[in-house]
Amino acid sequence: MTGDLPPIPILNLEAQHKRLRTEILSALEDVYDSMAYIQGRHVGVFEEQFAAAHGIAHAAGCSNGTTALSLALEAAGIGPGDEVITVAYTFIATAESILHLGATPIFVDIEPGTYNIDPDLVRQAITPRTKAIVPVHIYGTPCEMGALQDIAREHELLLVEDCAQAHLAKYDGKAVGTFGQVGSFSFYPGKNLGACGDAGLVVSEDDDTIIRVKKLLDHGRETKYLHDIVGYNRRMDAMQAAILGVKLRYLEEWTARRKENAAIYDSHLKPVGFQVIEPPANVVPVYHLYVIQVSNRDELAEALKANKIGFGVHYPIPLHLQPSLAQLGYERGALPVTEQVSDRVISLPMCAELTREQIDRVCDVVIKHGRP
Ligand SMILES: Cc1ncc(COP(=O)(O)O)c(C=O)c1O
Repeated sequence: MTGDLPPIPILNLEAQHKRLRTEILSALEDVYDSMAYIQGRHVGVFEEQFAAAHGIAHAAGCSNGTTALSLALEAAGIGPGDEVITVAYTFIATAESILHLGATPIFVDIEPGTYNIDPDLVRQAITPRTKAIVPVHIYGTPCEMGALQDIAREHELLLVEDCAQAHLAKYDGKAVGTFGQVGSFSFYPGKNLGACGDAGLVVSEDDDTIIRVKKLLDHGRETKYLHDIVGYNRRMDAMQAAILGVKLRYLEEWTARRKENAAIYDSHLKPVGFQVIEPPANVVPVYHLYVIQVSNRDELAEALKANKIGFGVHYPIPLHLQPSLAQLGYERGALPVTEQVSDRVISLPMCAELTREQIDRVCDVVIKHGRP
């Protein structure tokens, strides 16, 4: 039925890496020849370039997006006994980072149009033990940062942003990661800006916070052998920094293509009734994923497979129903929007390299086999 039609991957990293092969190998050669493999100039240069591209004052590269969020939380002062309000509609790392500091994630439900944290429910979840709010800009759509800042100010709470999926995303013209004390990014290979391995980064407008992050991630060092806090080895690898430096030059272009592709998808799928991501007018979303809701996900998945079209489900089991977090005591029914959406979402191919013809092909299958 599909004849000789080529497959459409959910993410075409192969095309991206073919295009950048010469530039990336030359950057790697530079690191190799420099002998500066740990905390060398490549990491510093990338930190500066990433911060500049986002209009953020400071950045600290680290080993991955999970350690980035952990470092951000620890540097902000989250610790044992604290409650941290966040979402269950995210990747497990958001909760792991909170739990490993001895704090407790308190899950609240999401808004149905953006799948982001609902600020009204944040207000209702505040207790005397609440120390912070961790909004997750899911799929690259910024959360309602104005409302969250108001709540944080009123209740003297910290705001720590999980920007793992939101490189270059903006709220009211300002990059995400700058609305609270500190924010974290991931460069997992499939992210909008991805390393060839693990890498992450912490951003902050505040000098002291970023100094603390840089100390924590490098054994709590004041100088080479003077350690004034108990830290970790969570440094960014120089090879990854060099690769990310090359890719960063293309991030604006890739992000623009993602937005164009999302608009093409929307133009096909919205008019026939599919629920798509609905970003508010004051945000610039970056479409890490293009997600729709369907009532017959398994059936559509089979049809996509039969037509050689890649897809994913981000995420089928929300965190409050994960076995590893059962001790938190949530049951099905606790977060109705999160649960309903988790049962219905499907991620369609999305990346800069996707063509209009490919999107047309995906939409034909979705419209024929998917039910809104
Ligand atoms: C929302 C969110 N938070 C945190 C992470 C953790 O990042 P990493 O996989 O780089 O540790 C990811 C990505 O995997 C993510 O999507």
